[in-house]
Amino acid sequence: MAPTRLIAAACVVGLWLLLCLWARRRAQRQETQLALAQQALEAPVPEDTLLVAYATQTGYAESLAEQTAESLRAGGLTVRVAALGQLDLARLAGYRRMLFVASTYGEGDPPDTAAAFSDQMLPAAPDAGRRGLPPLAGSQYAVLALGDSEYANFCGFGHRLGEWLHAQGAAPLFDLVEVDNGDPAALRHWQHHLGLLAGRSDLPDWQAPAYQSWRLAARERLNPGSQGGPCYLLTLTPPADADAGAGWQAGDIAEIGPRREAGGPLHAHREYSIASLPADGAIQLLVRQMRGADGALGLGSGWLTHIAQPGDAIDLRVRVNRNFHAPADGRPLILVGNGTGLAGLRALIKARRAAGHRRNWLVFGERNAAHDWFCKNDIAAWHGDGTLERLDAVFSRDQPERRYVQHHLREQADTVRAWVDDGAAIYVCGSLQGMAGGVDAALQDILGDARLQVMQHEGRYRRDVY
Ligand SMILES: Cc1cc2nc3c(=O)[nH]c(=O)nc-3n(C[C@H](O)[C@H](O)[C@H](O)COP(=O)(O)OP(=O)(O)OC[C@H]3O[C@@H](n4cnc5c(N)ncnc54)[C@H](O)[C@@H]3O)c2cc1C
Ligand SMILES: Cc1cc2nc3c(=O)[nH]c(=O)nc-3n(C[C@H](O)[C@H](O)[C@H](O)COP(=O)(O)O)c2cc1C
Repeated sequence: MAPTRLIAAACVVGLWLLLCLWARRRAQRQETQLALAQQALEAPVPEDTLLVAYATQTGYAESLAEQTAESLRAGGLTVRVAALGQLDLARLAGYRRMLFVASTYGEGDPPDTAAAFSDQMLPAAPDAGRRGLPPLAGSQYAVLALGDSEYANFCGFGHRLGEWLHAQGAAPLFDLVEVDNGDPAALRHWQHHLGLLAGRSDLPDWQAPAYQSWRLAARERLNPGSQGGPCYLLTLTPPADADAGAGWQAGDIAEIGPRREAGGPLHAHREYSIASLPADGAIQLLVRQMRGADGALGLGSGWLTHIAQPGDAIDLRVRVNRNFHAPADGRPLILVGNGTGLAGLRALIKARRAAGHRRNWLVFGERNAAHDWFCKNDIAAWHGDGTLERLDAVFSRDQPERRYVQHHLREQADTVRAWVDDGAAIYVCGSLQGMAGGVDAALQDILGDARLQVMQHEGRYRRDVY
């Protein structure tokens, strides 16, 4: 063989050997990393560690899990991130709080990396209660479900995971968030909840909304003299070039870009339920002015109720919130809400009125009838003209004992069952703390857990709670 050929052959062999060595080292490094990750997972969980688990095919859910963990760490929380495939029920039981970011494939299936975990997601044994507490009793969870609404089983695995966690005894921190094709607005909604968990209201949006410039046309105090925080009805008119007629549906949300006292934008959005219809020619909001423990105004509510003045521009974008759109048909509707939760219900009642659907029952709760009967004239008129077949207002502080909407529903259990037997849907809007849980527990007792779950599957039990 000619020496040049020999040298070339030696080079090829040498290169091949180097490649083999590199590949072996890489595999060893990966094995070590996996072993370390597994070791880290098996290490005792420091108290109050929050688990962020992900199920991913291409790595998108993993990157969102990392971003989620970063937001929580910014609030000083201890967070562990893990692939769902590295976990099982026993490991989950070591955490008090767990967030899951999970995508869906095929017929509502998990991504391949979570197939083994999914195989363990068996229905809870019917007699589990008799043998003691379920395995995840005392834990709390939330699910960010990634999917694509072009598929029949939209976010199917995320929903299945949430139902399984619930069946294992864990309680939801907040409602499942569906993300259609990476929708940044849905991710901002997830971020709202992360901010509350982290105790940080100033975390910048992962992706800023594309705001339009609306105008604050009017602001009216709804509860002068109230024991509660001041609450306002805001009227916002659209930019001249906006197609105001097609802009939103009852149930949709306004994303607002708050500004500082001196006008500079903040980089964290705020969400408010829209209380009006496009036919009103304006977006109306019911906004409660919030203050922190130090007395400082909330960023969003402070901007809308104090800093911005009538005539000022307001950065606003509509977030479509399909989950809270009115039923497509005239089925009976039970609308339950407290405080500013009346906003979303008000838009729904207006939509039902416009469609001529009159089997509507409003159950509204606030503190005192004398000061907190928000939008009383509208509501009385709708009761008078038959838009509201039934109207119940529950004022918690007008009698010695506290009475809330959930107490009223329990007292009206027979009527609730009769409406549901007639095909009614139940829509709940307002406080996540207190009201939403109390109403859910009341409905479980009135209708039974299984029936309420079926209603949820069928879209007959919907919530917009915050
Ligand atoms: C889908 C959705 C719909 C909403 N609709 C309305 C609505 O119609 N009307 C309305 O007034 N608000 C509504 N909110 C709440 C609103 O988005 C803000 O969270 C609220 O205005 C407080 O924000 P802030 O910037 O003024 O206060 P921040 O600067 O965020 O915080 C100020 C203080 O308020 C506390 N806080 C912040 N957010 C909440 C909260 N959600 N619940 C209890 N305490 C809180 C903080 O811990 C802090 O002490 C909605 C939220 C969501 C997610
Ligand atoms: C082949 C394929 C099948 C999918 N099937 C579904 C499905 O049945 N339901 C759904 O909601 N999304 C489905 N999706 C969308 C994914 O869940 C979505 O793109 C998700 O963001 C992917 O996240 P990941 O890359 O982290 O796994 C599918 C996507 C692909 C590519």
